[in-house]
Amino acid sequence: MLDQYSLSLPGAVYSGKGALGRIRDITEGKYRKAAVFTDKGVEQAGLLARPMEQLREAGVDTVVITDLPAEPNCDEAQGIVERFLQTEADIIVAVGGGSVMDVAKLASITADTSLTVRELLENPGLGRKSVPTMMIPTTAGTGSEATMNSIVAVPEKQLKVGIVNREMIPDFVILDGSLLKNLPKKIAASTGIDAMAHAVECFTSNKANPFSNLFAKEAARLIFQNIEAACEDPDAEEAKTNMLIAAFYAGVAISASGTTAVHALSYPLGGKYHIPHGVSNAMLLLPVMRFNQSACGKEFAELFDEVTKEGSQALKMTEEEKGEKLLARMEEIIRRLEIPSSLSDFGIGAEELEDLVKAGLDVKRLLNNNKKEITYEDARRLYLEIMKEPSQGITDGKGKGEK
Ligand SMILES: NC(=O)c1ccc[n+]([C@@H]2O[C@H](COP(=O)([O-])OP(=O)(O)OC[C@H]3O[C@@H](n4cnc5c(N)ncnc54)[C@H](O)[C@@H]3O)[C@@H](O)[C@H]2O)c1
Ligand SMILES: [Zn+2]
Repeated sequence: MLDQYSLSLPGAVYSGKGALGRIRDITEGKYRKAAVFTDKGVEQAGLLARPMEQLREAGVDTVVITDLPAEPNCDEAQGIVERFLQTEADIIVAVGGGSVMDVAKLASITADTSLTVRELLENPGLGRKSVPTMMIPTTAGTGSEATMNSIVAVPEKQLKVGIVNREMIPDFVILDGSLLKNLPKKIAASTGIDAMAHAVECFTSNKANPFSNLFAKEAARLIFQNIEAACEDPDAEEAKTNMLIAAFYAGVAISASGTTAVHALSYPLGGKYHIPHGVSNAMLLLPVMRFNQSACGKEFAELFDEVTKEGSQALKMTEEEKGEKLLARMEEIIRRLEIPSSLSDFGIGAEELEDLVKAGLDVKRLLNNNKKEITYEDARRLYLEIMKEPSQGITDGKGKGEK
């Protein structure tokens, strides 16, 4: 546990039924022109109409950039930043998942400087916020709407790298569960497990502290209790809103604490093989937490008390039994959501093992947060474990090489 800690929060967060309706109050008379960042999937899902209508009613001009790439690399992000510079907008409104929000954050701290994204990678602290951001997440999710991080792939390193700068903390956040109504189950599941990983990793991190624990515990409770309904039932708006709130809380926990070995070992899987962020974390979450069990017994038992409804039964259980039950419940959820669980689903075999281990062990910023040290042999064993048999979730081969 850290001796000193701090809490950083976005300027204002709006949630609940009809939260999108707040866009007008926030912007009317205050902003002249909004650059709306989004991607094709979000646009095709029809999710831009309501934010655009609100901005129109507020008398704010708009320019829409619709082709943000999924899980961008640093050069792709730079391309979007340059297009943003032409817009002369005085607010950025990001409607989308982590991919869209992360690029919006980079644009907001490079707009009044000649800084490039590559320069930020070298020197993240140089960025200064000059354009406010409004984040409207459509996945639940990365929690990017709460964090000071932006994650980009660096092609020559075949890794994903987090750019961290407090100036990137968003100004306005809108958490409206109705945006998740038609989120495909596959995406809802993997992004939801990403949020679960954020909560569990932050709670068991060497950087955990009273501030992060408050948010991580409540995020975990909401996720364990809502993720299945939110993924499986398009009409479960309350469960979806709870997942959005949970993903946001888990993002707050990331800023106060930090993720650990799940995210560290997952970075090369995204950077080199383009496995979606949520999927690679879902593959690693259980193996890493089982590995961590001997060092995180107390934390697992505490989380178990928080997330399950065992009531008086729990009084009779030992710390170890609680940890076992927590991990069993985690496994049940991951299986039920049918997320690919093996690297062989993506055509990645043992010939890649050495490169993976080397790249994973390089993510020291996050590995240092893990309670139990991960040696070369440990990393090798963990990657081998997720290379095993193809997952039960994928039966039609569509997972191969997908992005
Ligand atoms: N900044 C942070 O703190 C942070 C934390 C974790 C992850 N990330 C990064 O976020 C990125 C991943 O973001 P993500 O998991 O949200 O996925 P994403 O933003 O890449 O979106 C995945 C797909 O879902 C589609 N989509 C999104 N919302 C939809 C909706 N409501 N209905 C239909 N389709 C929808 C998108 O069009 C896209 O094709 C990665 O680059 C990851 O590294 C950032
Ligand atoms: Zn994540």
